[in-house]
Parts: sequence; structure tokens; C-alpha cells
Amino acid sequence: MNTFDNLSLIAAIGCKNELGMDGHLIWKIPDDLKFYREMTLGKFIIMGRKTFETMPYGALDGRKPIILSSKNLDDYFDVSCFNNVEQLLNFVSMTPEEFMVVGGAKVYEELLPYVKTMYLTKIMKNHRADAYFPLFNESEWNRELMLKALGKKPPCVRYCYTRKLKK
Ligand SMILES: NC(=O)c1ccc[n+]([C@@H]2O[C@H](COP(=O)([O-])OP(=O)(O)OC[C@H]3O[C@@H](n4cnc5c(N)ncnc54)[C@H](OP(=O)(O)O)[C@@H]3O)[C@@H](O)[C@H]2O)c1
Repeated sequence: MNTFDNLSLIAAIGCKNELGMDGHLIWKIPDDLKFYREMTLGKFIIMGRKTFETMPYGALDGRKPIILSSKNLDDYFDVSCFNNVEQLLNFVSMTPEEFMVVGGAKVYEELLPYVKTMYLTKIMKNHRADAYFPLFNESEWNRELMLKALGKKPPCVRYCYTRKLKK
């Protein structure tokens, strides 16, 4: 499977890969939201329709949002919509800018195989959830610690994962 050097992913996950509950985020750590802002400003951000519908405007402002949906989202301004992953990846391959995949669970799962870099904030806590980050094989990635003790309650660790080159 081809990966794309300009395709990255950012997520905040719990001890059991918890991402969200009832359509909403469960982890809202100010320092991490700041990191999300820094990492996404000015970039294309790719998300599923469900995540899009619950995102506050501030999380889209200053970014170039791309929504995956089977529906027609023409009612929204300043948003591009793709109806399938193939079309989206074709656009990524033709565009010399960085794209950040920002969720949710379904979109992470579908796009993870094509991503070159992941920024994962791991929150050292369990939480009730109905949306989870996909399992992935850590041996296929180089892991670099970015920040050891972000947040106090609960503590978090942030890693940058870069896909190992295939031999
Ligand atoms: N912790 C974090 O970092 C983080 C980040 C983002 C989101 N979240 C959480 O994740 C949860 C949402 O995740 P989710 O899996 O339920 O929804 P989602 O991935 O946000 O959106 C799923 C929707 O995206 C569209 N879609 C996905 N793949 C598609 C494809 N190949 N072709 C066309 N459309 C496609 C479909 O929309 P249509 O139904 O319109 O066709 C699908 O119903 C929420 O709880 C949210 O808060 C957490």
C-alpha cells in the first residue's frame, strides 16, 4: 500500500485507545488543544462528516477543511467534500502541501494505512467510549517522545510516530 509523505495524523487517545463518546471528544486538555491548533493552522485537515458536525468553528478557522461524506455538503462554505477515499488520496497525491487527518474513528481507520507520520497524545486514563483509535503494529513505526508530562490530571505523553521504510 502506498503511503503519502504529505499525509499526517493527529489524535488524543486514552489507555485503551478511547477517542470519543456519544459523538463528542472525551479528552479536552488545554495544552493538547493548543498543540492541535499549532499543528493544523494553515493546513488541509481531513475529517469524517460526524466529527465535522460536532467541531466548534474555532477548530476549523484558519484551516482548509476537507470532509469525507457520502452526502452532498454543498450548504457549507469553505469546506471541500470527498465522497470516497480514492478521490481524496488522488487529491493528496497531486497537492504539494501537508494534510492532517483529524478524525474520527472511521476516518482514522481508513486513512491510517496511507499516513507517513502520526502525532499521538496518550492520556494515562481509561474513559467510557464508543469510538476508538484503530490498533496498529508498533513495530512498523519509529516512535519519538515529544513531551513527557503534558497536563497534570490526567498525565499525558505525546509521541511522534514515523512509518519505517519498507525494505
Ligand atoms: N480524540 C480525538 O483526537 C478525536 C478526534 C476526532 C474525533 N474524535 C471523536 O470520534 C468520534 C467520531 O468518530 P466516528 O467514527 O463516529 O465518525 P467520523 O469518522 O468522524 O465520521 C464518519 C463519517 O464520515 C464519512 N465517511 C467516512 N469514510 C468515508 C468514505 N470512505 N466515503 C465517504 N464518506 C465517508 C461518513 O459520513 P456520511 O454518513 O455522511 O456518509 C461517515 O458516517 C466522536 O466521538 C469524536 O469526538 C476524537
